[in-house]
Amino acid sequence: MKTPRLKAGVLGATGAVGQRFVQLLAGHPWFDLAALAASERSAGKCYAEAVSWRLDVPIPEAARELAVLPAEPGLECDIVFSALDAAVAGPIEEAFAKAGYAVLSNARNHRMAEDVPLLVPEVNADHAALIQVQKKRRGWKGFIATNPNCSTATLTLALAPLERRFGLKSVAVTTLQALSGAGYPGIPSLDIVGNVVPFIAGEEEKIERETRKILGTRSGDAVTLHPMIVSATTTRVPVVDGHTESVFVSLRKKADLEELREAFRTFSGPPQQLGLPSAPAHPVVLRDEPDRPQPRLDVNVERGMASLVGRVRPCELMGWKFIVLGHNTIRGAAGAAILNAELLQAQGILSD
Ligand SMILES: NC(=O)c1ccc[n+]([C@@H]2O[C@H](COP(=O)([O-])OP(=O)(O)OC[C@H]3O[C@@H](n4cnc5c(N)ncnc54)[C@H](OP(=O)(O)O)[C@@H]3O)[C@@H](O)[C@H]2O)c1
Repeated sequence: MKTPRLKAGVLGATGAVGQRFVQLLAGHPWFDLAALAASERSAGKCYAEAVSWRLDVPIPEAARELAVLPAEPGLECDIVFSALDAAVAGPIEEAFAKAGYAVLSNARNHRMAEDVPLLVPEVNADHAALIQVQKKRRGWKGFIATNPNCSTATLTLALAPLERRFGLKSVAVTTLQALSGAGYPGIPSLDIVGNVVPFIAGEEEKIERETRKILGTRSGDAVTLHPMIVSATTTRVPVVDGHTESVFVSLRKKADLEELREAFRTFSGPPQQLGLPSAPAHPVVLRDEPDRPQPRLDVNVERGMASLVGRVRPCELMGWKFIVLGHNTIRGAAGAAILNAELLQAQGILSD
């Protein structure tokens, strides 16, 4: 697909998710990494000096010498990817959208707003239509589009094939979430080495709300939340990257094991049909081995852009149960926002 190149900025470029943005945008076929911004602690330094780089690849050359700027409109770019701390993201993202930028946000602040799309492009690409509603209602030249919280991103990719074929009645999920999901430097080592922390503030509510919006139905100017019940328990475990989730589902229609496996295996959506650059060939990868998926072995399958489903089996309590794994800073954050931008570009919304 031939599209005009766009200049991209990253807000919160020094954080755990910001670093992923910098890595994934360097060399992107449609977007040029043009501006980096963070807090006043970092502003004024060059990126290599400001960042505590924690990825296992070198800092991209395109970013090393870029100046880190304050996170305020005036950045020389067309679109901004936001990896800002949620404590500050709300008004900063609004200021950028008002000033005419397309804002692709990871932060929780605007996800549930009625006129803001919460996108997983394989699942609800049609929700992008809310952008026109938002621009009109708020009188903005730009807009905000969001991707879900990391656990929700992994979960909804695995639920969508079941919703499409059989309908979902209820979902219970327990997460085992990686340390990189808590940002950098994150949790003190003495609190997590050899331990499990059975609480992540605000996370269960996010999964319960966001899942119903993503799988909800758009009609006209609004999205009606999916009526299913979602019940979540979230825990932090000593894993570096990759959230594992134990999922129980009740379906509306009767299904057998082979039909369920087939639904996972054959699932795809607009990113695959449009050939978007960051789209995984298989958004859901079904593993047959009894002891997979595992974060250390499987988190980078499909460049971290897929949900890996395994251990699909009947459940006497709810009907079916399975394990799903996803890369929290790629498909759960930076990669998700970049795929959203690619979708909006393909739909003609980004360079509108
Ligand atoms: N980690 C994940 O897996 C994940 C997944 C999905 C969504 N998210 C969401 O993505 C966002 C970033 O998460 P993270 O894990 O990358 O956090 P992080 O490592 O703590 O990074 C936060 C970033 O925000 C910047 N920042 C903080 N205060 C600021 C201010 N007043 N003005 C401008 N910039 C400011 C920081 O800049 P300095 O370095 O200059 O302080 C840093 O670049 C959060 O909203 C989080 O909830 C994270």
